[in-house]
Amino acid sequence: MKEFTFELSTKIYFGTNMTEEVLQKEKAQFAGNVLIVTSGRSLITYGYLPKLISMIEHLPGNEKVVVYDKITQNPKLEEVQEAIYLGKKEHIQVVVGFGGGSSMDAAKAAAVGIASEENIETFLLDGREPDGDVLPIIAIPTTAGTGSELSKGAILSSPAHHIKTGIRGKKLLPRMAVVDTAYTWTVPERITAETGFDVLAHAVESYIAVKANAFSEMLSEKAIRIVGEHLPKLIRDPGNHTAREQMCFASMIMGINLANTGTCLPHRMQYAIGACTESSHAAGLIALYPSWIRHEFQVNPRKLNQVFQWLGYAPVHDAAQAEQLFRELKTEWKIPYSLSEFGIRESMIDNLADQVTGNLANDRLSEKKDIIRNILIETI
Ligand SMILES: [Fe+2]
Repeated sequence: MKEFTFELSTKIYFGTNMTEEVLQKEKAQFAGNVLIVTSGRSLITYGYLPKLISMIEHLPGNEKVVVYDKITQNPKLEEVQEAIYLGKKEHIQVVVGFGGGSSMDAAKAAAVGIASEENIETFLLDGREPDGDVLPIIAIPTTAGTGSELSKGAILSSPAHHIKTGIRGKKLLPRMAVVDTAYTWTVPERITAETGFDVLAHAVESYIAVKANAFSEMLSEKAIRIVGEHLPKLIRDPGNHTAREQMCFASMIMGINLANTGTCLPHRMQYAIGACTESSHAAGLIALYPSWIRHEFQVNPRKLNQVFQWLGYAPVHDAAQAEQLFRELKTEWKIPYSLSEFGIRESMIDNLADQVTGNLANDRLSEKKDIIRNILIETI
């Protein structure tokens, strides 16, 4: 067996309708001045945000709760800088990321920036790992998708610099993750399917990844089996709370793989797409997948057939069949996106391909000449 190291340092609370109980138990974590970083929107509509603020404010030892609620779906450097400004002004001591991956990622970056004298921009542009003080981060996800509650990355975009990339490092790992599956009960059907696809993408890519190991492969298998069994149920019946719970679990354990083995070309490529369009992270992945699967099948047929089996499909015999399987999956899950829907034209492809950066070597397919450009062309 291949040698590996694995690290799990976040304290996990997983359950349903247990946030208040957990907060009471962990009240010491919320002492002093707390900043909640979130996207607002549905969390305000459903009353989740006002309730969370009230719960924290009533904890003994809490001095005040400050909210930054302007995080967008591809969180921007400028938004994080505003949150950092607010955090420094209010002498914040703890940062809570409340929402989907965008909110949790922005919270992690804010926790770095509030504790640092340096501009957060330098970490993002230089790819430097934060090694100084970082405020404690508490992640409370409200969707089942990104696994950001257990990952050590904060993915941000900067339209001014034409980049979407990550600030990564051990210090960005949340101190605590409170995964209350009840928050996902009100997630709309389309977002459920999109974020569910992101879970699948994390599981497939971390399984295919060069850095995969026996531990991460075990987690990938579990997540892929859960997606195969429960996501179709949720798409048919969004009120299926058991399926919601399972998807929350799959999403969370894939956060562990994101932190330890990373992902493959679709994630590298989506960051470039997300930096120049307003498409969501999952929508970009969904657009790219059938073409990527066809190419990947040529270098990794055994592992991909294993994925199909865990998803509940029969083995396929060639790359075209593998691609077709994902096309049908997209139709079945009602998420038939392509890059042209995001405003990407053929004339933009060369430039877009140049923007794809990161650990490309984690996907053996990246050794193939012009592969990124070819996938982009085929995906329009
Ligand atoms: Fe993802």
